[in-house]
Amino acid sequence: MSSTLSFTEMKEQLLEEISTAESIENLESIRVAILGKSGKLTTLLKSLGKMPPEERRERGQALNSLRVQITDAVTERRGLLEDRALDAQIESGKLDVTLMPTIPPQGSIHPVTQVTEEMIEIFARFGFEVAEGPEIENDWYNFTALNIPPEHPARAMHDSFYVKDHTVDHDMAPMVLRTHTSPVQIRAMQTSKPPIRIIAPGRTYRCDSDATHTPMFHQVEGLVIDKEINMGHLRWILAAFIKAFFGIEQVKTRFRPSYFPFTEPSAEMDIGCSWSEGKLNIGQGNDWLEILGCGMVNPRVLEHAGLDSSSWQGFAFGCGIDRLAMLKYGMTDLRAFFNADLHWLRHHGFSMLDLPNLTHGGTL
Ligand code: PHE
Repeated sequence: MSSTLSFTEMKEQLLEEISTAESIENLESIRVAILGKSGKLTTLLKSLGKMPPEERRERGQALNSLRVQITDAVTERRGLLEDRALDAQIESGKLDVTLMPTIPPQGSIHPVTQVTEEMIEIFARFGFEVAEGPEIENDWYNFTALNIPPEHPARAMHDSFYVKDHTVDHDMAPMVLRTHTSPVQIRAMQTSKPPIRIIAPGRTYRCDSDATHTPMFHQVEGLVIDKEINMGHLRWILAAFIKAFFGIEQVKTRFRPSYFPFTEPSAEMDIGCSWSEGKLNIGQGNDWLEILGCGMVNPRVLEHAGLDSSSWQGFAFGCGIDRLAMLKYGMTDLRAFFNADLHWLRHHGFSMLDLPNLTHGGTL
């Protein structure tokens, strides 16, 4: 009886030791002390041989079942300790994304990017999609298709950068850095079926440089093609855009007759403005600011792009993004936009989180 009691006590003590092991190493040394070659239980099992058969059977069964229990308890405890170790490792390497960074975010959004995004946002509300075209354009798209044939004097007006030794595998060569975004009109008409409503913002290049011209600048092109689109629609959309962009309720606009080979009739749009104490007020007043060129798409251009000019018509406009940025944010020298001057960029840059939207772009 007394031996059974001490056996139960021993069992409890061993299981207790296992279940309180605090580390995998600690558990392993406990296991060796019990089940190892000269471990407690191994020694007891070895001593069975010296016992009388009756006692041996009973004792043998008890010791074997204890061995199973101990092995199970060790496995269970090891699993638990391993899980704990893994949790601790994950915990220590965890990244708390809600913590404020100790280094403030560097850099800012360039005014040209900001203004481009604002324009896209506004025109998207009118159902315009963004279209794109290559900056190294072939002569046909940049000029010929836009009704500027090779001998046309308007080619000289553009002061183009031709790309030397750039050969293409069809007869549209030579290649030129696009002098305006108007070639995207042709590409849009070729690739999508009318009705079409696109804007095409992007870089453009002309060999020119002073306070208001840089060899690389940005334009946005607008194109609407439909059955009954007319100049009234053009004028309305442009005025609505100007109001939204400058955040003003009223704007005076005027169309002056002009000439572009790809539009007929063509116009330049001015917006009313006034100056007070050196500050420009856009919208009203007795002065005028020239803002953009526009007109009804010349039927020849429609035909070049593969549209039937007896069923389709539309308007187009093109304006300088940098110029709009200067007017909206009061910058005076266009060259500063591209000088990579950190002081200027920090002063005029926009926060990365300052996403363009219509509440700060104005009203629609
Ligand atoms: N492409 C013209 C320019 O660069 C602008 C324009 C576009 C005019 C579309 C009319 C229509 O000056």
